[in-house]
Amino acid sequence: MKRILLIVSGGIAAYKALELVRLLSKAGYGVRCVLTPAGEKFVTPMALQALSGEKVYTDLFSLTDESEMGHIELSRSADLVVVAPASADILAKMAAGLAGDLASTLLLATDKRVLVAPAMNVRMWEHPATRANMARLESRGVLVVAPDSGPMACGEFGPGRLAEPPVILAAIEAALGVAGPLSGRHAIVTSGPTHEPIDPVRYIANRSSGKQGHAIAAALAALGARVTLVSGPVSIADPAGVQTLHVETAAQMLAAVEAALPADVAVCAAAVGDWRVATAAQKMKKAGGAPPALQLAENPDILAQLSAPGPLRPRLVVGFAAETEHLAEYAAAKRARKGCDWIVANNVGGTGIMGGEENEVLLLSDEGAQAWPKLSKREVAGLLAEKIGKIFA
Ligand code: CTP
Repeated sequence: MKRILLIVSGGIAAYKALELVRLLSKAGYGVRCVLTPAGEKFVTPMALQALSGEKVYTDLFSLTDESEMGHIELSRSADLVVVAPASADILAKMAAGLAGDLASTLLLATDKRVLVAPAMNVRMWEHPATRANMARLESRGVLVVAPDSGPMACGEFGPGRLAEPPVILAAIEAALGVAGPLSGRHAIVTSGPTHEPIDPVRYIANRSSGKQGHAIAAALAALGARVTLVSGPVSIADPAGVQTLHVETAAQMLAAVEAALPADVAVCAAAVGDWRVATAAQKMKKAGGAPPALQLAENPDILAQLSAPGPLRPRLVVGFAAETEHLAEYAAAKRARKGCDWIVANNVGGTGIMGGEENEVLLLSDEGAQAWPKLSKREVAGLLAEKIGKIFA
């Protein structure tokens, strides 16, 4: 039996946690609840205990329970930690790594994946402080069930309402890889830039942040896939629940990808350096005279190699096409040239796409071209993973 540790924090939406516990118990999960002091103002430990059939933990009990079950044990005995509703306050505590009460201590001590379902007033949700906290949590691999938009208990309108319990249940099942359409499948994802050394201290790089590729790895894992992420040098965190291999150069990326085969699906989101430099063994010195000319050699094309027919070709190979002009035309030509099944094309000409938070893509497949609206990179990843899931369903 899979076990969920459910943290219920304060807010009018806390009553929906009762329905979530009921759904989880009905679906056969073991649910252990922790109620924050603010949560206790909205639902009682008794109600949660009646629905979960298990003892409910609050700050009041935490000291006496320490001997029976330590904080660490409480958070580690679960398969997934869920915070629903997650108030602005607990999200801020998580982002800052505070551990002043039972719930935040558990969240800091856990080694399990954490899923949060935020609920708060629309202005609090849209406040730069909450935006920054959410970005920080997501970069650490915390899974988010985004709040709904609509009329709120406070009389305002907008995003901030807790997602409906069946939606949270579906996200929990996806996070656990239960019945996910990609359960039992292996996915390889490349992400980030490559660094091609010029000499021991210099390299050629590009502006890729890895945000899109990392989000795809996380989204595939959420649908149940075993994911190997091969990442070039990035400054973002490894996604939770994904095996991340760190490489620097295109040659190392290819070697890591080949070693990870076989796979059912490969998504090449990395901005691989097209050329490597005939590297100098020692630091190149200015020492007068003309500036040195760099001798470039073409790098192996990882996407093309993965797409080539053969026993190890993944069933689905997805490439990206970063273009600055003639997007549809160049991307279609790239799809044909590389032999991949789908191409996710994006215009990287303006500022803010490479390294930014959003992406506007065109998906090319046998079905033709599909233009997606401008979305967050996480949303693009979710849609792409869903589409990949349908191939394997
Ligand atoms: N790619 C790869 N290995 C390379 C170069 C690119 O796997 N050595 C993959 C990228 O991960 C991406 C796709 O190929 O999925 C297209 O990358 P892009 O840089 O847009 O295309 P290039 O192959 O570099 O072609 P061009 O320079 O003509 O735009």
